[in-house]
Amino acid sequence: AGGVVRAELLLMALIIQSSLSFGGVNAGAVKFSGTKEGLGNLQTQTAKCKCSAKVMEQAVVAEKAVKIQIAEDDSFTGLSQVCAVLGTQWGDEGKGKLVDILAERFDIVARCQGGANAGHTIYNSEGKRFALHLVPSGILNEKALCVVGNGAVVHLPGLFKEIDGLESNGVSCKGRLLVSDRAHLLFDFHQTIDGLREAELAGSLIGTTKRGIGPCYATKVTRNGIRVSDLMHMDTFPEKLDILLHDAASRFKGFEYSKRMLETEVENYKRYSERLEPYIADTVHVMHEAFLNQKRILVEGGQATMLDIDFGTYPFVTSSNASAGGICTGLGIAPRHLGDVIGVAKAYTTRVGSGPYPTELSDAMGEKLRAAGHEYGTTTGRPRRCGWLDLVALQYSCRVNGFSSLNLTKLDVLSGFSQIRLGVAYKGPDGNILLSFPADLERLEKVE
Ligand SMILES: *[C@@H]1O[C@H](CO)[C@@H](O)[C@H](O)[C@H]1NC(C)=O
Ligand SMILES: *[C@@H]1O[C@H](CO)[C@@H](O)[C@H](O)[C@H]1NC(C)=O
Repeated sequence: AGGVVRAELLLMALIIQSSLSFGGVNAGAVKFSGTKEGLGNLQTQTAKCKCSAKVMEQAVVAEKAVKIQIAEDDSFTGLSQVCAVLGTQWGDEGKGKLVDILAERFDIVARCQGGANAGHTIYNSEGKRFALHLVPSGILNEKALCVVGNGAVVHLPGLFKEIDGLESNGVSCKGRLLVSDRAHLLFDFHQTIDGLREAELAGSLIGTTKRGIGPCYATKVTRNGIRVSDLMHMDTFPEKLDILLHDAASRFKGFEYSKRMLETEVENYKRYSERLEPYIADTVHVMHEAFLNQKRILVEGGQATMLDIDFGTYPFVTSSNASAGGICTGLGIAPRHLGDVIGVAKAYTTRVGSGPYPTELSDAMGEKLRAAGHEYGTTTGRPRRCGWLDLVALQYSCRVNGFSSLNLTKLDVLSGFSQIRLGVAYKGPDGNILLSFPADLERLEKVE
């Protein structure tokens, strides 16, 4: 249209224009509430970004709103005592960065689910790079106490490696990092099983990170898992581990189990248990006391809602509860005590691994998005699948989690595009608009 309209403003305007109700969610200064409820108003096709007069007008309104927000120096004051930051899409939305920024306003930063599959990179004030996996992003903030909750799974050799990496760079963890005595231990054999399972399933790969997280949650539910508190009883530990390893050997042909293997692992865990001792705590009690003493608690979600075991695109999901419910079950925080929940959404979408993905761009446009957003895995370097922002999935995510606000990230990546598209509705093969994000992946695969 010849006018200078920044991509981000246009996008905000489009989101408002798409008439989707986000249930009271507002992204910064742009409120999403108050838009027409009801899917009858939805455009049946993906909105094409044309600089129509109306959109321009909306963009100007949005620009004013942004200016007002910048003038109000601090958009983070007024956050509730217990807050959470969750991913709204398929992960890699930039949660770690926001948690790192917010951490200085909180006394406790806690992880409630998942394991060392997070993998985000943050930089300290001197620009030193830190790759964190299980340790909460709050660790770089000296005043914050970091908690790994009961809902998480802990691979001790991995955790010690992470701690060593932090300490050798001058970040002390002693007395600042607590691991729940109720958390389950993830053993090397869980990782072996992960690989064997993927090999069995060849052809219908879930695309796991092979870090043993799924198998560890599986033993948790089968109820022969071993918890951090079991490390206090090294006399009965060998017996428990023997049962676990026998189970694995009887299930997987390729899994060779020997007495020697058990002995070696028991020796390892004798050392690990001594080293872990100062970090072990009844974190449920710690969280309750902290809450009663008016301490401020920030919960850092791992993965994202579209990867949640219940609400995600099952079976192409993670094995834990990545949505808001996981905050309560994974830390022992009562639902009533939870306040603001911030959803982090990328201005477009990416996903790693398999599974249907309606707004995916498998063409040159996708390549352009990938290059502009540097969408390659942090640890693997694997190219991420890229596509336009999917408002159907985002709305679903907003409803499942009840976000109090949305943080839209990587808007600048869209600035180089002359045309931006948004997924505003899913149309089935019968021509009907779907009312919500479908459970049935075959249906999802066929939507337009
Ligand atoms: C959104 O998150 C980024 C960090 O990724 C932060 O710089 C920004 O201030 C946040 N915006 C709002 C409105 O919370
Ligand atoms: C996830 O949530 C479900 C349903 O509330 C629960 O049964 C399950 O134990 C949770 N899973 C994990 C791994 O926390």
